[in-house]
Amino acid sequence: MLKLGVLASGRGSNLQAIMDSIKTGYLPASVEVLVTDNPGAYAIRRAEDNGIPAVVMQPSDHPSHDAYYSAVAEELKRRGVELVILAGFMRIVRKPLIDAFRMRIMNIHPALLPSFPGLHGQRQAVDYGVKISGCTVHFVDEGMDTGPVIIQAAVPVHHDDTEESLSQRILKYEHRIYPYAIRLFAEGRLSVEGRIVKVDAPAERDVAVVNPPLGD
Ligand code: GRF
Repeated sequence: MLKLGVLASGRGSNLQAIMDSIKTGYLPASVEVLVTDNPGAYAIRRAEDNGIPAVVMQPSDHPSHDAYYSAVAEELKRRGVELVILAGFMRIVRKPLIDAFRMRIMNIHPALLPSFPGLHGQRQAVDYGVKISGCTVHFVDEGMDTGPVIIQAAVPVHHDDTEESLSQRILKYEHRIYPYAIRLFAEGRLSVEGRIVKVDAPAERDVAVVNPPLGD
């Protein structure tokens, strides 16, 4: 059983999808702790409803951002966490945490990286007028949404989409590919060489890109 630590700042629907995948037996893992920087995060409620401890840790309680991320890393290590999951954690993770969990931190981004990194990936896609966007699960490095890509889902963008309508369509795929990426890690099927993540799955070419059904 792979021990996960989830970092989230808000709604927590990806946390929910992960907990649900664990419950059904799809994902051989356990969530050991939720760490949040937001005492009002709905994710706290979701964690507690599932018997998972929620710890509020805020940068303002620490002398520096590096000290904050060292403390977060310590908390995660103390609980035996093996893989860190960023699920709507609205901060750029700093070196002390990245070094403590090198290539053992995943993030999900609501666009096809390297397009539209940073905040509001869905709004950026709508404003740009692309016809296909999607979501990306990647390992976290020092940059903003720049780490090696693990899996992506392509999602169509309609001409009359709003940020909200596209976000909803993409979110369904987030909830599908995040548990899948974690499962691949748990099964030891991911290896990283430079920027390239090798997926050791029987039909890698079929699973590495998840396309929406026609007509979606
Ligand atoms: C998701 O859109 C995710 O891609 C982005 O932040 C959002 C978090 O949503 N990183 P939730 O808190 O998991 O519902």
